[in-house]
Amino acid sequence: MLARDEKGDRMITTPTRSTRAGTLVRAFALLLTTGMVLPGCAERTAPSATERVDVLPLIPAPVEAERGDGRFRITAETVVSVAQNDAPARDAANHLARLLRDTRGLALAVREELAPSPGSIRLQLDPQSPVAQAEGYALDADAEGLRIRARDAAGLFYGAVSAWQLTSADAGRDAVETDVVEIPAVTIRDWPRFGWRGQLLDVARHFHDVDTVKHVIDAMARHKLNVLHLHLTDDQGWRIEIKRYPKLTEIGAWRTPPGAGRHGTPQRYGGYYTQEQIRELVAYAAARHITILPEIDMPGHAQAAVAAYPGEIGVTSERPPVAVDWGVNPYLFDTDERSLKFIQGVLDEVLELFPSPFIHIGGDEAVKDQWEASPAVRAQMRQLGVKDAHAMQGWFNAQLAKYLTSKGRRLIGWDEILEGGLPDSASVMSWRGVDGAVAAARLGHDVVLAPAGWMYLDNLQTERSDEPNGRLAVLPLSRVYELDPVPAELTADQARHVLGAQGALWSEYIPSRRHIDHALFPRLAAVAEVAWSPMAARDWDGFLARLPAQLQRYRALGIGSSDGAFAADIGIDGGPNTVLSGGPARIALGNQTGVGQIRYTIDGSEPTLESSRYGAPFAVTLPVTVKAAVFTEDGQPLAAARSRHFDREALLTVDTQGLRNCHDGGPLGLRVPLLPDMPGMDTPVYNVDLFYACWTYPQARLDGIAGIRIDAARLARNYGLAHDQSKVHQYPSSTPQGELEVLRGCDGELLAKVALPDGAILGEQFILEALLPPQEGVHDLCLRFTAPIEGPLYAIGAVRLIEATAQSPPVRY
Ligand code: ACM
Repeated sequence: MLARDEKGDRMITTPTRSTRAGTLVRAFALLLTTGMVLPGCAERTAPSATERVDVLPLIPAPVEAERGDGRFRITAETVVSVAQNDAPARDAANHLARLLRDTRGLALAVREELAPSPGSIRLQLDPQSPVAQAEGYALDADAEGLRIRARDAAGLFYGAVSAWQLTSADAGRDAVETDVVEIPAVTIRDWPRFGWRGQLLDVARHFHDVDTVKHVIDAMARHKLNVLHLHLTDDQGWRIEIKRYPKLTEIGAWRTPPGAGRHGTPQRYGGYYTQEQIRELVAYAAARHITILPEIDMPGHAQAAVAAYPGEIGVTSERPPVAVDWGVNPYLFDTDERSLKFIQGVLDEVLELFPSPFIHIGGDEAVKDQWEASPAVRAQMRQLGVKDAHAMQGWFNAQLAKYLTSKGRRLIGWDEILEGGLPDSASVMSWRGVDGAVAAARLGHDVVLAPAGWMYLDNLQTERSDEPNGRLAVLPLSRVYELDPVPAELTADQARHVLGAQGALWSEYIPSRRHIDHALFPRLAAVAEVAWSPMAARDWDGFLARLPAQLQRYRALGIGSSDGAFAADIGIDGGPNTVLSGGPARIALGNQTGVGQIRYTIDGSEPTLESSRYGAPFAVTLPVTVKAAVFTEDGQPLAAARSRHFDREALLTVDTQGLRNCHDGGPLGLRVPLLPDMPGMDTPVYNVDLFYACWTYPQARLDGIAGIRIDAARLARNYGLAHDQSKVHQYPSSTPQGELEVLRGCDGELLAKVALPDGAILGEQFILEALLPPQEGVHDLCLRFTAPIEGPLYAIGAVRLIEATAQSPPVRY
């Protein structure tokens, strides 16, 4: 595992303003002498809060950037110039012109010219370009013009992306006149650290349409990413038309969701790409120098395929439904001749559609129960001399590898494929940490780093209450940023097997494009820098300084990025008990990254740059509504205003995020919506631990408390837990439907017990209320459901303690 501190050591610090202009800096965070201000200077290293500096707004950071004298002016008359017959330059020029039009309102003409006209932007494929590395480019700008040279088409394209980013030094057209853009004179020499710079999009758990995939492709191109890993098949859906097996999509692309018909959930959920649409996507991506890597997950995650063709590929002849359970389900592809022929038939069509040199065969999370229970598979194993089911997956993978190799392609799979013995030709995508990458590289296999602890973007990015659905192991922007894709354990020779890195967006909790945007951005910017920039050019503070311009680009491009890393956290200094016990109320503000200026109001008005600037906790008189927004030092928006109302009731209330799991969350901590296939973001969310239906209300002050009110919900228990099923804890109940119990500490006195409402409607919200016997002092209150674990999942949205006061005597529930 790569330790955080280890990574931090390798980062260079942001150069101070005294960095000598004209020095070639092997880092991006080159500070210039005029213009915008580095945000959050006060909280970070250098320069000081009052120092005005300029930052080249490039993400990912280039290898080398040197500031020159003067500036290059781009106006509506500026020509984007290409040589005749230089098709790559024309493509990149058109791309640049489109970006400038869409984000800066500048309509520039692309023109063929023998030699660049004065003051033009010239793009040129040039075998003598000073940057010899694949996909690299040289960009030179001064008062006379801007020139991009590269030895390949991808390099020109990335040079164009950098030129476009340079035009947003002033962070977008909202802030400036749109008909003139000035960029600093600069010399850039840049090339990627890795040839594989990927992002996975899971279109199986929730289907995302062609337009949404194009939206992701466009965004990837603007981050200089070049592999879109499409996870096309899984238990919950088969998403690619296979002409010789039409039932894969007729049956396998559709499921009957839990709670169908409620909260916007359709009766039938699904979708797939026709082959024509796949061709369209492949071409669209290729035009942006992105390869689509198709994944057909085998032998596990196969339930949708088995639902379509149980007799052909199922281990038993049973036809399961297309799964609605997230997680690990038992259905595997069979290992017999008929199943392998079927798979080859699928691959034949996949290979025809996707020119990708690699084909991803999944290989992850294949619990072997079905194989182990099958007399036919066991007999085959004996006949093959295969010692166990893991080795049988090795044999299965070897058949796939042989087939793919015979077709001139390479197999890549998740790191589980190491367990059964790896075909020589196979490459490994490491997701369970970096150990798989280390083991595979030591064996001489190529590897791609997608370790969940850094790169799984379906994890929530903050601990804020306003985060949508996702996994509860919080993965902040800073954590994504710190990954070095070359594990320190590898020798230089072994490190050559590291092809690159990629982010992953699994879609169990990502049902819509809005969810995609929220989860991907701005963390994709960190993924891009991890995969493109050399460690010497990487610098967290510099990255943060460059982000405001990137956020402006997102706005200009219609990307609904998250501002959670910068959003104001608003709380009571010292926690609510300080006020409940008679102390003064002081408001503390902050944000995850610690950058930006926080401006706040307490009069209900919207905070602006003129509002009070937060420095230290400040006193208020309750009730009060605190609103806080975050800006860069030069006044660009970093995070929209957040609002919190504080009164006595609020001090006695915690929401789902304020509750703690009784057993430390762990890998099965999730934040779930009311129903799994609800399309929108406007659902209440519930933090759950699938193993324990138990939460604590931490440090509840019980003096004067007479009752408790719980906003609860009955959710789908749609989880495939495989061998972990036995870890799901059943609390003893005294009625068939179960109760909610309130205890003073989980091992302490039972304070109240409320029957759960009858019924089985999923997605139903209800309120549970109970009197509490008089208590004193501060205690963790334990709340747990005793409902049968074979039935629905119960969860808590919020808990409120109710005081016995003269004005409001305790109600009898
Ligand atoms: C995976 O996350 N199961 C590859």
